[in-house]
Formats: sequence, structure tokens, C-alpha cells
Amino acid sequence: MNLLVLGSGGREHALAWKLAQSDSVSCVYVAPGNAGTAMEDFLHNVNLDIADFGAVATFVRQFDVGMVVVGPEVPLVNGIRDYMDHENIACFGPSKAAAQLEGSKTFSKEFLVRHGIPTARFESFTELEPALAYLEHSALPVVIKADGLAAGKGVVVALNARQAQQAVTDMLAHNTFGEAGHRVLIEEFLEGEEASFICLCDGTFSVAFASSQDHKARDDGDKGPNTGGMGAYSPAPIVNEEVAARIMREVIEPTVKGMSDEGMPYQGFLYAGLMVAADGSVRVIEFNCRFGDPEAQPVLMRLQSDLYDLLRKSLAGELKDALPVWDENVTLGVVMAAGGYPGNYQTGCVITGLTDTDVQADTKVFHAGTRTAGTEVLTNGGRVLCVVGRGRSTLEAQSRAYARIASITWKDAYYRTDIGYRAISHEKK
Ligand code: AMP
Ligand code: GLY
Repeated sequence: MNLLVLGSGGREHALAWKLAQSDSVSCVYVAPGNAGTAMEDFLHNVNLDIADFGAVATFVRQFDVGMVVVGPEVPLVNGIRDYMDHENIACFGPSKAAAQLEGSKTFSKEFLVRHGIPTARFESFTELEPALAYLEHSALPVVIKADGLAAGKGVVVALNARQAQQAVTDMLAHNTFGEAGHRVLIEEFLEGEEASFICLCDGTFSVAFASSQDHKARDDGDKGPNTGGMGAYSPAPIVNEEVAARIMREVIEPTVKGMSDEGMPYQGFLYAGLMVAADGSVRVIEFNCRFGDPEAQPVLMRLQSDLYDLLRKSLAGELKDALPVWDENVTLGVVMAAGGYPGNYQTGCVITGLTDTDVQADTKVFHAGTRTAGTEVLTNGGRVLCVVGRGRSTLEAQSRAYARIASITWKDAYYRTDIGYRAISHEKK
């Protein structure tokens, strides 16, 4: 069986790498892929515009692809699953209607309220005056969110009234986030520790993947601007067995049932971004309709089961008794980014210190914004690499990841030096 993975990030490198290990899979095409997917055995990059669903379908027929696996949210929110269903092409990922859980924050918040699933209190606004009036009575800090997709940048945690008014005005009156910000949500600030909880769903049943936590802020100590994610590790110590069971019972199962009851059965990865409070209670911060990036890199490195078989079961509605097996070790991935990210940054810098496929004992280098040029690998994006270490503890996984990073560099390479510090402090206790 040939597969086609859509996307070019670290998540897609990890998905394609894991899928290629399946006995049922002969070749994984990656569109458009990166230098990492170009260098792996059994992976082949193809130069396809993944926004052009017709071109994707033509490729699928020409190269005898048995399943399309969609990495990022944009094609899902734009209905690639519906398009491929119509073309009789097996496509892994939620339908356009189901992907609204990520595509519209208003949809997802109203859904959560309708189904009694715990989340932060909120109001939604399209007009500036009522939004500003509402802020007058809001407790601080307060969270302001653009309704639509904003690549992780449409959220402002306002510490004072002036910041809150500014954020609402920028989104509603100044068009800072374009269409995505024409509706804003004003949300109660939640206290606690965040965790990523990713499940595989088949429309009726869901299977929890290993838990993880990412670091969204650019700089050490979780300071600086928000990014797509600067590093992640699995498992998340705060998601113990009891908390995981509670998340399944209070969040995932009612979500999958609610989506099915409303005629939008959810098939694909469902990513719940959660706030876990000190007493172990959980509330949903957001849903994503795809795997996390960089969560996919450490999580999939721990997966010992056949990923293709799991995705096939998701599409066939056969997940009921599926039980993925996980490596007991901890994995921890550190993102190496271009200096300046998430603002302006340079591309085209030569990366040194990489080896052919970068499978070394207990580390793996996943590529994101990279491309090949002759025999060289060049930077080609903001998040460039994710270097994952594996160990018996978070501390050991962390030290292996950083030891591997020490030999890799390019002009202006930037990374955080403290990925995993919360888990390590839990371990010390
Ligand atoms: P989102 O795009 O909704 O995941 O928000 C981005 C980040 O903003 C989250 O990862 C949290 O760190 C923070 N955030 C969002 N909503 C809240 C909230 N209600 N309370 C506290 N922090 C939040
Ligand atoms: N790492 C956060 C995300 O994938 O949305």
C-alpha cells in the first residue's frame, strides 16, 4: 500500500516516518515534505500544492495511493475530507463540519456549553461597542481570542484593562487578524497547568494517545511571544491515570458522542488543549482537528503499534478494541528555530552537523522548515528542526536531546534551553 501524507512540518515528518514502519505500507509520499522526509528510506517528496484538492486526487490515482493522511488543519477546515469522500478516495482526517471544532472557536465553545463539557466562561462579539462594554465588568487577567484560524497567534492574555481594550479594538476595528478576527471571544482566564490530550476517533469510539505537554512561548521560563510550539515531551506527568480517565469521561467521550448526535461524526485525531487545575479538574482551552506539532514528534517516537493500522481502523469505524502500545520511556523534543521566529527570520542558511537519516541511539532529528540543495540542507522556515531524546526520565530524555543539539547549528539558530522543566520538577518531587 502507498500512502500520501500532506504537509511539510515536523509533525508530518514524524507521521510519515512512523507510517513507513508498517508492514502494510510500501511507500509514503509526502507533499510537499522537507529535507528530512527527502532523506528517509521509504519516503518520497512530491511537489504538490495541497490546497489544490483536484491535483491531490489526480496524484492519488496516478500513483496508486491507498490513503491520504492530512497533517495540518487548513485543508481539513477547507473540506479536503469531503472532497476525497466524493472522489471515493480514502482520506484520514475529520470532515469540514467536524473540523469546525478547530476552525471556529465560537462553534467549539457553543458546542462545549451545549454538551455540558467543562470550559472557560465566555461571550462572543462581532461589534466593538458591546465588546468594550463587556470588558468593563470582566475580571483580570482576561483572554481575548480571534474566532477563526490564526496560526496560534490569535490569542491575547490581557493582564490589564488597557491591553484588553487594545486587543479587542485591533481585532474588531483594525482588522489585525483579517477574517479570523471579525468575531472575537472574551474568555475567563483559567489557572492551572496545560496539557495536550490527543485521541484517535472513528466517529463513535476514541482511543487516547500518550499524553504530552508543549511549550508555546518562545523564550526560557515560558516568556516572550507565543509560537506554534518550541518543544514538547511525553508523557505529561500531570495527566496521571486518574486525570486521563477523567478527560476521557468528561471531555473526549461527550465530544465524540455530541458530534455524532449532531450529524457531524468525528473521525481523525482530536486534540484537546486542556487546563488541569491543582485539584485535578480539567477544562477545555481549545480543540484542534489534527495532531499537535511539536507534540507528534515525541509522542509518535513512543508509539510501538502500527500507526497505519490505527488510522485504517479510524476510517473503518473499528477502533472499539484498539489498544496502542507505548514505549515506557519518556521522549522530549526541542525545537530549533530560525533567529527572529515568530517574527521575521532568514531562510537559506546551511545546517551543519546533521547525519543522513539521523537515527542515533535514543535521539531522532525531525525536520520542519528545511530543504535540500545538492548535498546540503538549508533552513526554509521558522521552526527548522525538532530534536527528540528518549530516556528513562524526563531529565535523561532532555539531556540526550540537548547533547544531540550541541553538534547541529546554522547562522542564527535559536532554541530554548529549558524544555521539560515542569515535568522535571514534578519528577524531583
Ligand atoms: P489557544 O489558541 O486557544 O490554545 O490559546 C493559546 C494559549 O493561550 C493557550 O495555550 C493558553 O496558554 C492561553 N490561553 C488560552 N485561553 C486561555 C484561558 N481561558 N485561560 C488561560 N490561558 C488561556
Ligand atoms: N503545539 C500546539 C499545536 O499543535 O497546536
